[in-house]
Amino acid sequence: MCGIVGLVGQKNNVVEAVVYGLEGLEYRGYDSAGIACTDSGDTKIICAKACGELSALKAQLHEQPISGLAAIGHTRWATHGRVTLENVHPHFDCSGTIALVHNGIIENYHELGTMLKAEGHIFKSDTDSEVVAHLLESILDRGLSPKKALHELVSRLDGAYALVIMLGGRSDELLFVRKRSPLCLGLGKNKSAVVSDLVAFDADIEKYAIIPDQTYGFLRMGEVEAYSFDGFSAEITYTPHIHNASSRDRGGHAHYMLKEIYEQKGIVHRIVTALNDLGDEWIKGLGYTSASQASESLKKLTHVDLIACGTSYYAASLGAFFLRDIAGIDTSVTRASEFAYNPILMKNRLYGVVSQSGETADTLEVLRALKRQEQSVFGIVNVEKSSMAREADGFFAMHAGPEISVASTKSFTAQVVVFYWLALKIAHSKGLITLQQLQASEAELLWCGNKIEETLENNKSSIEHDAAWFAQYKTCLFLGRQESFILAAEAALKLKELAYIFVEAFPSGELKHGPLALVDQNMPVVVFSSADPLVYQKIVSNAQEVKARGGRLVVFGFQDQTALLNLAEKSYCVSGFSSYTQCDSLLGPLCMVAAMHYLVYSIAKVLERPIDKPRNLAKSVTVE
Ligand code: F6R
Repeated sequence: MCGIVGLVGQKNNVVEAVVYGLEGLEYRGYDSAGIACTDSGDTKIICAKACGELSALKAQLHEQPISGLAAIGHTRWATHGRVTLENVHPHFDCSGTIALVHNGIIENYHELGTMLKAEGHIFKSDTDSEVVAHLLESILDRGLSPKKALHELVSRLDGAYALVIMLGGRSDELLFVRKRSPLCLGLGKNKSAVVSDLVAFDADIEKYAIIPDQTYGFLRMGEVEAYSFDGFSAEITYTPHIHNASSRDRGGHAHYMLKEIYEQKGIVHRIVTALNDLGDEWIKGLGYTSASQASESLKKLTHVDLIACGTSYYAASLGAFFLRDIAGIDTSVTRASEFAYNPILMKNRLYGVVSQSGETADTLEVLRALKRQEQSVFGIVNVEKSSMAREADGFFAMHAGPEISVASTKSFTAQVVVFYWLALKIAHSKGLITLQQLQASEAELLWCGNKIEETLENNKSSIEHDAAWFAQYKTCLFLGRQESFILAAEAALKLKELAYIFVEAFPSGELKHGPLALVDQNMPVVVFSSADPLVYQKIVSNAQEVKARGGRLVVFGFQDQTALLNLAEKSYCVSGFSSYTQCDSLLGPLCMVAAMHYLVYSIAKVLERPIDKPRNLAKSVTVE
């Protein structure tokens, strides 16, 4: 979603550095971009804006370069107002001497806009953000200092917002405000920066700090002045910054998505090693402070409530199977956007938020609401400096590394692995399994980790061959049962998101209760099999029902499942893992996941979709 980069430099020109920062933010999804800069002693603010890719803005800057000692830039993902040049940030006041970029939503923008229009302010855009520029203008016009003006500004804005503001001619400082939307400060060689995501920093930034919530202040060369919303000095705590330029390249792959599909190979070993390295401290991930507290609480724990969105919701749904079957804990999973309306808060419950970014607004708001009600909340999060990682009582890092492609691939796999490991640890600490059993199960998890890429490689050429066949269809049905239904649902989300093909996922037992009416020779039906012998038998019956109606049957199955594989027109098989293998059948989806991702990738490629940045979507959904 929207991204912010603000820089104060020593060299004229900081514009290139802002562009570099915006490139780092591109992965979050955006539809337009803009930059403004100013020089010392010159009250003029110069601006360049373009709709579409950042390359359009770069081409414009190449034709008509702009320069200054301070600059602010923004990538916009439209919420209030269409994708037009007028709506691109930075936004200005009437005099053109205040420019600002904004992430989040100003909830009372309509009331403020009406009042400011009545005062004579002229608006140029349809955005909620522009209101802030005019409001600040009207406050400063009363002769208040910038510090007092910011203090009044935050008292009049409702909603969630990260703001970076430039005053014409004040090239030595930028103003910043943070309420609920992420914003970070960076200090370094020849420049100071304020950005919405750490990836926007360059190698010159030596240390950084997450701005505390409800803080405003001033960024200058090598220094920061910060105040909490109540006007007292705010403490800013810095951490050394290590720039990771390699996370920005595609590692020789055509797309980030492909790079990330292949990164799943080593992920299982890496996560299990890192989690085991926690030793006895693992209980802190659940928010417990001591082993005795953990052991008491885990014995009494009757229910876990998992909360997440999108792909993380499906990973949590697999996690619920693991926690129920392995750790004996009744577990429910709720989409964060629905949870807010129906929370039944009870004793001896543990809440878990699951998120790649750790910034998804719906999930974050549930976490905050639960914390306000003094509930215990743990997280499973990839971005370790994210708001969720900081605000939960404890969290488990997913160790997936930066995920750039909008569609989550390796982070899904990482979440599933963390859940499986966690279920084993809880089961062991409750005395449900012995240490030997725990180690044997961990070995099965690692064995399945090796299957991820083996299954992809074994089926790669068939998948590439079949992609064009899939691409001709406008609709599809995906089926599975139990844990394999979760994979079917996640695959359906991926195909919708990346190929824009309408797919419905159903538990295959539901076929006869409605969806079977859709099945004919024009309907591809993809069945995700289970390695559980009983579940498998039922899946075979459902596949026969599809076949009998002329449906175009495609199967993701396991070796030896010949009855099912023989029914299929096209099939992709996990070798060495049959219904009779001594491996937990709950791990079946893990073996299939990269092959499933590669099928979706290949179909999207045939259809020439913008794979890493699907239309209308953003990587980190920071508005509710
Ligand atoms: C789909 C996808 C999204 C995210 C969802 C939650 O491929 O990536 O559905 O899973 O927006 O994001 P996080 O995990 O960052 O909370």
